[in-house]
Amino acid sequence: MIKKQERKSSSLMPTFCVIFFVFLVTMTSLVESVDHSKFKTCGDSNFCKRNRINHENNKEGFYRLTSIQLSDDKHSILGDIVQNNNEAQPLSLKIQVYKDRMVRVTVVEKNPLANKKRYHVQDVLLPTISTLPLEWVEKPNDKQFSFTYESSQADSQTKKNNRVQVQINPFVLDLYVNGELSISTNDKGLFTFEHMREKIAQIDKPAPEEIKQQEQVDLNKEEGEQQDQQQEEKPTTNEVAGLWEENFSGHQDSKPHGPMAIGLDFTFAGSQTIYGIPEHSTSLALKTTKGEGINEQPYRLYNLDVFEYEIDKTMALYGAVPLIISHDTSKTVALFWLNAAETFVDIEDVVDKQNRKSKNTHWISETGAMDFFLLAGPTPTDIFKQYATLTGTTALPQLFSLGYHQCRWNYKSEDDVKDVDEKFDENNIPYDVIWLDIEHTDGKRYFTWDKNNFPTPADMQNIIGAKQRKMVTIVDPHIKRDNNYYIHSEATSKGYYVKNKDNNDYEGWCWPGSSSYLDFTSKEVRSWWSSNFAYDRYKDSTPNLYIWNDMNEPSVFNGPEVSMHKDAKHHGDVEHRDIHNLYGFYYHMATADGLVQRNKEQNDRSFVLSRAFFAGSQRIGAIWTGDNAAQWSHLEISNPMLLSLNLAGITFSGADVGGFFGNPEPELLARWYQAGAFQPFFRGHAHIDSRRREPWLFGEPYTSVIREAIVKRYSYLPLWYTTFYQNTLTGAPVMRPLWVEFPKEEALFKIDDQFMVGDSLLVKPVTKQGQTTTSVILPGKDTKQVWYDVDTGKQYPASTIEVETPLEKIPVYQRGGSVIPKKERIRRSSSQMKHDPYTIQIALSTDQSAYGELFVDDEHSFAYQKGDFIYKSFTFKDNVLTYKDVNKSSSFKSNNKIEKIVIYGLKSVPKTIVAASGDRKLEFEYDKEHSRLIIRKPELSIDNNWTLSFK
Ligand SMILES: *[C@@H]1O[C@H](CO)[C@@H](O)[C@H](O)[C@H]1NC(C)=O
Ligand SMILES: *[C@@H]1O[C@H](CO)[C@@H](O)[C@H](O)[C@H]1NC(C)=O
Ligand SMILES: *[C@@H]1O[C@H](CO)[C@@H](O)[C@H](O)[C@H]1NC(C)=O
Repeated sequence: MIKKQERKSSSLMPTFCVIFFVFLVTMTSLVESVDHSKFKTCGDSNFCKRNRINHENNKEGFYRLTSIQLSDDKHSILGDIVQNNNEAQPLSLKIQVYKDRMVRVTVVEKNPLANKKRYHVQDVLLPTISTLPLEWVEKPNDKQFSFTYESSQADSQTKKNNRVQVQINPFVLDLYVNGELSISTNDKGLFTFEHMREKIAQIDKPAPEEIKQQEQVDLNKEEGEQQDQQQEEKPTTNEVAGLWEENFSGHQDSKPHGPMAIGLDFTFAGSQTIYGIPEHSTSLALKTTKGEGINEQPYRLYNLDVFEYEIDKTMALYGAVPLIISHDTSKTVALFWLNAAETFVDIEDVVDKQNRKSKNTHWISETGAMDFFLLAGPTPTDIFKQYATLTGTTALPQLFSLGYHQCRWNYKSEDDVKDVDEKFDENNIPYDVIWLDIEHTDGKRYFTWDKNNFPTPADMQNIIGAKQRKMVTIVDPHIKRDNNYYIHSEATSKGYYVKNKDNNDYEGWCWPGSSSYLDFTSKEVRSWWSSNFAYDRYKDSTPNLYIWNDMNEPSVFNGPEVSMHKDAKHHGDVEHRDIHNLYGFYYHMATADGLVQRNKEQNDRSFVLSRAFFAGSQRIGAIWTGDNAAQWSHLEISNPMLLSLNLAGITFSGADVGGFFGNPEPELLARWYQAGAFQPFFRGHAHIDSRRREPWLFGEPYTSVIREAIVKRYSYLPLWYTTFYQNTLTGAPVMRPLWVEFPKEEALFKIDDQFMVGDSLLVKPVTKQGQTTTSVILPGKDTKQVWYDVDTGKQYPASTIEVETPLEKIPVYQRGGSVIPKKERIRRSSSQMKHDPYTIQIALSTDQSAYGELFVDDEHSFAYQKGDFIYKSFTFKDNVLTYKDVNKSSSFKSNNKIEKIVIYGLKSVPKTIVAASGDRKLEFEYDKEHSRLIIRKPELSIDNNWTLSFK
C-alpha cells in the first residue's frame, strides 16, 4: 500500500516521464509480487513457533479432567482440566449442547488474574441461540463419560449414535454422528493453554514445559532466514525470547500480558476433504501444510491489507472466518473456532483411531478464550442451517445491488461521472451503480467532497438517480488528524479513538497522512459513527448514495504488517491483539447501521461493501476479495476464493472484475465479465495507475461480449434475488460447490473451477487465455440427471462433456427438474425492470417434472420481514404446471405478469394447454430446433395461484 502511494504521486510527473513510467509499471507489475518481508510466517510469530512443534502431550496424565459434574440447571457439564506438573493452575471446562445438533466447549483459567481477563468474542453469535438440558448416555466414571446432542424426544439408540464421548485422561472429546466417529478433539494431544501470569521483574521463570518447548523449537529450526533472525533476537537476560516482548520488521510489541496462546487439534475422522477458513488465495479443498516432505506455512487468519497478493498462498488476507467444514460421502460436519486473535491452522494427513484416512487440523491462537462449536450436520444443508443459527444469514440485498457496479480509482469529476453514465446508455449496457474512490473527498476527509472536481455532488447524485441508478462513496475508518475536521475534533473530544499502549490516541499513517482510528468495539462509538450518515451530517449526501468501507483490517501504512499495533488498547482495556479480526466487522456494522438509521421512515435496507470481515459479517453486507490483479491466474482463483467465502456464510461476495492492479488484455476483461456475471457481487474496479477500461473501450467484438454478459446477469436477477431470499431462511450459500448439490459424488469434492448458482444453474467460467474448448462436468449420473445448455436448449445426460468456447460463450447449464424465473427485457438498470413481466424457464427432469420458486417484494425495504412479499412455487408434474404459495404473503400486491413460459425436455408435444381458471385454452408453439415449447402471453399473474394442464 505504501508502494501504491508512491505510484500515485508519480502520476504528477511531467508527460515525458509518464510514458516511461507507464512502461515501467507495466513491466514491473508482471514480475512484482507481495513483499514477504512485511508479513509474518508462523516462525515470525513467537506463539505460533512455540506451539507448532510436535508436542508429546497426548500421554496419560498430561492434560486430564477432574471434578466432572452437571450444573444446577442441567444445561452444562462443568469440570477442571489439570496439567501434569502444574496442578496449581487448573483450567475450567464447560460443555454445552445447543439446539440443532451443536456442541460448545469453552476453556478458560479457573483462577483468572485480577487485572486481565481472557477476551470472549462479542456480538458475533446471535442472541437467539439456545442450549438444551444435557442427557448422559454414560455417566462419568474415572475413565470416561458420554452425552447426546439429540433432543430428549429421540429414542435411546439414536441418542447413543449421536453422542459426544469424552475420555478423562488424557482429555479427548469425540463427536459421533450416526454412530460414526466424526470429529476427534485433542486426538493428537496438541492441547495447549498458556495460563496468564504476572510478569516478575528480572527473574521471570517460564513454566518448565515452555522452556522445553522452546528448546525443541531451537532444534527444529525451520528456514535459514528465520534462524538468523532468531539468533539476533537471542535474549541476554534469563527471559525466554518472545514471551514478554517481541519485535518484527522494526516494530516492537510490548506484550504486557506475556504468553497466553491456546492450541488444540481436531481430527476430521474418515474425511479427506475439508473446506473453509477464508480468506486465502488457495484452492477450495484445503491443502495439507504439515507432514512428511511437506513444507507449507499453516493457513493464517489475521486480517491484513496485503499489497499485490499472490495465488496459492496460505498467507493471511483481508478477512477471516474460523470455520472448517468437512465433507465425505457419509457426512458433513464442521468446527467453528470462536476466536478473533491471530490464528494459524495446520492441516495434516493422518489416520484416525479406526485406521481411516483423515485430516487433522491444528489451531493455534495468540490469545482469547478457548471457545469452539462442533456442528454435527450430517448433511451440507444441515451444516448451513446450523452455522446460520449461530452467526446469522445474509442480509437480504436491495435488488439494485445485485446488478452491475462500475468502479475505478477514481472517477475524477462530476463530468467524468456523467460521461461514463451516458456512455453506458449509448452502448446499451445496463448498470446500477457508479462508485467514487478516495479522491472524491477533500483531502481524504471522509464525509466531505473535493469541491473543485465535485462542486455540486447532490445534483450529480440526482442526475444519476433520475435514471434509477445509485452512487457509492468510500468511507474509511482512518480519520485525518486535522483539528478543523469535524469528525476528528468530535472524536478527539469524546475520547472515541483507539489508544496506544501509553494511553494516548493511536496514530498511524494512512491515505490522509497522520490518522487516528475510531474504536468501533465500543457501542457508543458505533452509534456516534452511524449518526454521521444522517443527511444533515453527511453534507450533500442523498438517498441515492450508498457506502463502501475499505482499509478496515485496519490498514496502517506504517504499522506492523501494515496494520495496528497489537498492544493498542480498545474500550474496556481490551488489547487490539484480542479483537484484531473483529475490527472490520464492527466498522462495517456501524456504517450499515448508519444507512438504516438515516432512512428510518422509509424502512430501507442498507448497502455497504466491506473489505475486512469476520464470522457474522454476512448479516451486515457485501464483501469483496480486495486488491487482485489483472492476470488470468487471478480470474481463475476468484472461483475457489468465492466458493470458500460462500461456504463460510459470506455469500454476498465478489472479486474485482478485470483485476485491480495492471491492465487486462481485452480477452481477459471479457472473460472476467462473463465469470463475474455469475458470481454474487458483480463490480468492475481498477487501480488509479491502470488504463481506463470501461466496457466499450476495446471495440468489437469485446463491447458486445461484455454487454451480453451483463445483459445475462440482469435476465437472471429474479433467480439471484429469490436465491438470496432462500438464504435468509436456510443459510445455504447462493454460489455453491457442486458437491453441495451432489454430496455423494466423490469426484466432485475437489472441483472448484465450476459451481452452482442456487440449486439450478451450473456455471463453468472460461479462465484461460485463448481457450477454445473446455470440459464441463455435469453431475448426477446415478439419478439420471439431465442438463440443458441455457443458450441452445440442448439436453445433455450427466457426464463430462467437451464444449466449444468461442469468446462469446459462457458455459451455463440449467439443471433438469428446475424452474427459473427470469426477466428478459433489456433496461438501463434493475430498478427500471421492476414492473417488467417474467419469463419462466422450465427444464424438465427425465421423469418429466420440475420445481422452482419465485420471491418478490418491494426490492428495498424491511417490509418483507413482516410478510410483505410474494413467495410462490412452480411445480410441473403429471402434465400439470401449478403456481401456488410457499409462504402466504399478507398485503403485497404486484401487477407483474408472466409474458412467456418456456419448457425444455418435454417428451411429447401436448395437443392443448388449458388454464384451469375458466378453462381458457392457451396458444403455444413447439420449437423443434431447440426442443422447447413456448407459451407466449399466457396472461397469468404472479399474484394469484393458477394451474395449466397439458393434454
Ligand atoms: C525490540 O526493539 C526494541 C526497540 O528497538 C529494543 O529496545 C529491544 O531490545 C528489542 N527486543 C528484542 C527482544 O530484540
Ligand atoms: C412466512 O413468512 C413470515 C414472514 O416473514 C414468517 O414469519 C414465517 O415464519 C414464514 N413461514 C414459513 C412457514 O416459512
Ligand atoms: C394459493 O395456494 C395456496 C397453497 O395451496 C393456498 O394456501 C392459498 O389459499 C391459495 N390462494 C388462493 C387465493 O387461492
